[in-house]
This record gives sequence, structure tokens and C-alpha cells, in this order.
Amino acid sequence: MNIDILLGLQWGDEGKGKIVDAISPDYDIIARFQGGPNAGHSLEFNNVKHVLHLIPSGIFHPEKINIIGNGVVIDPAVFKKEIEELGPPVSELTKRLVISTRANLILPGHRILDAAYELYKGSAKIGSTLKGIGPAYTDKTSRNGLRVGDILRKDFRELYDCHLKRHLTILKNYDFNFDLKDYEKGWFEGIEMLKNFRILNTEYMVNEMARTGKRVLAEGAQGTMLDVDFGSYPYVTSSNTISAGACTGLGVSPKLIGDIFGIFKAYCTRVGSGPFPTELTDDTGSILRNIGNEFGSTTGRPRRCGWLDLPALKYSIMINGITKLFMTKADVMSGFKTIKICTSYNVNGKECVEIPFDNDALIKPVYTELPGWEEDISGIKEFDKLPDHLKTFIGFIEKETGVSVTMVSVGPDREETIFRN
Ligand code: GDP
Ligand code: IMO
Ligand code: MG
Repeated sequence: MNIDILLGLQWGDEGKGKIVDAISPDYDIIARFQGGPNAGHSLEFNNVKHVLHLIPSGIFHPEKINIIGNGVVIDPAVFKKEIEELGPPVSELTKRLVISTRANLILPGHRILDAAYELYKGSAKIGSTLKGIGPAYTDKTSRNGLRVGDILRKDFRELYDCHLKRHLTILKNYDFNFDLKDYEKGWFEGIEMLKNFRILNTEYMVNEMARTGKRVLAEGAQGTMLDVDFGSYPYVTSSNTISAGACTGLGVSPKLIGDIFGIFKAYCTRVGSGPFPTELTDDTGSILRNIGNEFGSTTGRPRRCGWLDLPALKYSIMINGITKLFMTKADVMSGFKTIKICTSYNVNGKECVEIPFDNDALIKPVYTELPGWEEDISGIKEFDKLPDHLKTFIGFIEKETGVSVTMVSVGPDREETIFRN
């Protein structure tokens, strides 16, 4: 069981990038299994912050192999930009990064369709990152997609033109202005950039490495509450963000999965539309946003902030089969006199611990209050040195969920990570 999974338990932005980077030394392969450039994974070391969208968060460790798996959707234009801004030369990065032949491409038409669909939804819009994710996954499952392996075909341009024609036909039904030419140019330059990399049937590579005792870390994007099946549909993304998605998104058997690390913030955030029972629209929400720097890594949008939601956390733990919990942003909570945790919901007047199916249900969170802590904890290196009230907060979460919190993150830097024995 050499494949571990790390994924988000809330609405994304839990700090996946930071933690994947921090634990990469324990692994040989770091592999993304779903999502696309809607993701924004930040990591920091040596006082420099990097934000990754498509590239796995193990890329800064020279001796590791990073894989973009078949479950990911790739926009070549975004890929090229990201590669160029990363730092190391392309000749070095081609040694570290491998791409699946079977990963679907985000075509320029997908981005335009994403924007047109959102516009037509009006106030019911999803709040998409507008990276073309929904239309790209739609074409994948309706068997209309183009895949990375196709870029090596001689007739690739003709295939592309055929897909473009189809997208333009759909767009005729929408009164939506767009200019394709500029984006198309960068997109085709991105195709040339992709050709520098090893494009392989990566499912063989991952299985062979796992079989021979190498350690694989599967890196999730988005979060469980944005999963296309189990999130607050339709206010979700278009892929399976849950642990099962790692099997389909990399081509590995569930029998090979070892630990499933669930990462959550000490509070909650959500960017985009959809239900958010513990959302704080008052000063407390603004304090969390400002101290936590809660602005989207991909779109810069302010994130909605709220207290920790245990019914949602328990749901995510159940769906994913989480074996260990990692808690991030505990440092952001310093200074509150009391901290609230939602332990159940009052739904349309009735106490409830399930996530309602109905997005319009009137949900009132039922809170437990715990004492806060004053200390700045960002410099702390050992679990035992954390303030007692923070340890009580963690103990409460462990008791409620039945899963141990084995890592506490106290700042954005790689070093600001406390592992608990
Ligand atoms: P991801 O999408 O799950 O990788 O998360 P993002 O990178 O989008 O958002 C997490 C943000 O919180 C980033 O700006 C990180 O640098 C930052 N961050 C991660 N862990 C911590 C932490 O423990 N404390 C603080 N203060 N910031 C953190
Ligand atoms: P990481 O990996 C937070 C949200 C969008 C929108 C919905 C659908 O950084 O955690 P999409 O672009 O997929 O059509 O958007 O999902 N969303 C994210 N929110 N973090 C992300 O990724 C997200 N990726 C998508 O805001 O509400
Ligand atoms: Mg993010």
C-alpha cells in the first residue's frame, strides 16, 4: 500500500500545496489526479511564495517525479506560463515532470463556453474560476474531448479545427462576444511547450513504481464539499475531488491506497456561490479574511469566511475514509476570546447532523463555544508547546470525528509545520 492521498475536506484552499510540498521528501512521486487550472496551490520557502495551478506541489524537490495524471484537465496556455514562471529551466523541469497521454485538454472554446454559460445563469451563477473546467469535463464524459496524447498526431490541427467548429456552433445560441485569436496563439505555443515533456501512459509508471516499493503521494485539488457528486450541486466543480477520484484519476486500484490525509482549516472558507452554513458576514468574518489573507490564489476574489463546520467535516471524513487529519491556519485563530464550532444544524426548525440535499434549506448552525488563545503560535515547533486552549480545540475535533490530528500548520512557510508523534 504505497500510495497515500492528500485532499481537502472543505471548499478548497485548505493549504494542500503547502503541506504537499512539506511532506514531499517522504515520497518518490507526487501526482495530481483531478481538477485543472481552477486550482491555486500556494507554497512558501526561503521567503518566496509560489502559486501552482496545474503542476504538482512536489516540483521544487529536484529528485522527485511529478505526474499530471489522466484525471486532470490541462490548458496548454496556462501550463506554458506556469512552467516559465517556476524558476528552474525547462531542461531541468522536463526531468521532474511527466504528463499522462490520457489527460484531457482544455480548448480555447471551453473557456469561452464557461464564460457564456455563467453569464446566462445570471444570479444563479456558480462563481466558476472561468478556466474552462466545466465544458472540458463535459466534453470528456460526452466523448468529445481531445487528449494530451493527441497532440503528437499528424492531424492534430484538423482535429482541433473540428472541435472548434462544434464549440462555435454551440456559441451561436448565445449572445456573447469573444475574441478567440489571441488566446489561440498562446494555446498553440503551449502545445509546443507540452511536447518538451515526457507524455506517457502514466498509469503504468505509477503502478510499477508502487509495486517496486516507491512511495506515491496523490495530491487533490479543490475540496470534498466541491465534489461533483457529494458537494452542494450545482455549486461544485466538475470532477471527483474525493479519495475515489485518485484511483480513477491515476489508474490505480483502491487496494494500493495507504493513508488518506484530510486537510482542513481551523475555520472555513468558500469562494464562489453556494450554501455555507457557518458563513460570517460580520466583523469576525472580515478579521478571519484579513488575518488569514483569504483571497483566491487563482482569481484574487475575497473568500467567504466562517467558523469550523463539524457536520461538513464529518461528512468529508466519511466519504473519503480519512485516516489522519491535518489542520492548517491555526495561527489565524490566535487572539479570539472565544471560538465557535458548529456541531449540528437546525434545518427548517429541526436539529440535524446530515448535510441537507436541498440547497435552499434554511440552515442555522448550532454552535459550541470554546475558549480562544492569545499567543502568537507561528514560531512554535513542537505540539506540546502549543497553547492549552488550542490543544483543547484540537482534542474536541478529534473526539467528535474519531480521527487524530497528526499535523498542525502554524504559518504559510514549509518550516511552519508541526508533526505530532
Ligand atoms: P490550497 O489550494 O489548498 O493549496 O490552498 P491555497 O494555497 O489556495 O490557500 C491557502 C493559503 O493559506 C495560502 O496563501 C497559503 O500560503 C496559506 N497557508 C497555508 N497554511 C497556512 C497556515 O498554517 N497559516 C497561515 N497563516 N497561512 C497558511
Ligand atoms: P484549490 O485546488 C477554491 C470553486 C469556484 C466555484 C466552483 C466551480 O486551490 O483548492 P470551476 O472553476 O471549477 O468551474 O469553479 O469551485 N473552485 C475552487 N474554490 N479552491 C479551488 O481550488 C477551487 N477550484 C474551483 O470558486 O465556486
Ligand atoms: Mg487554492
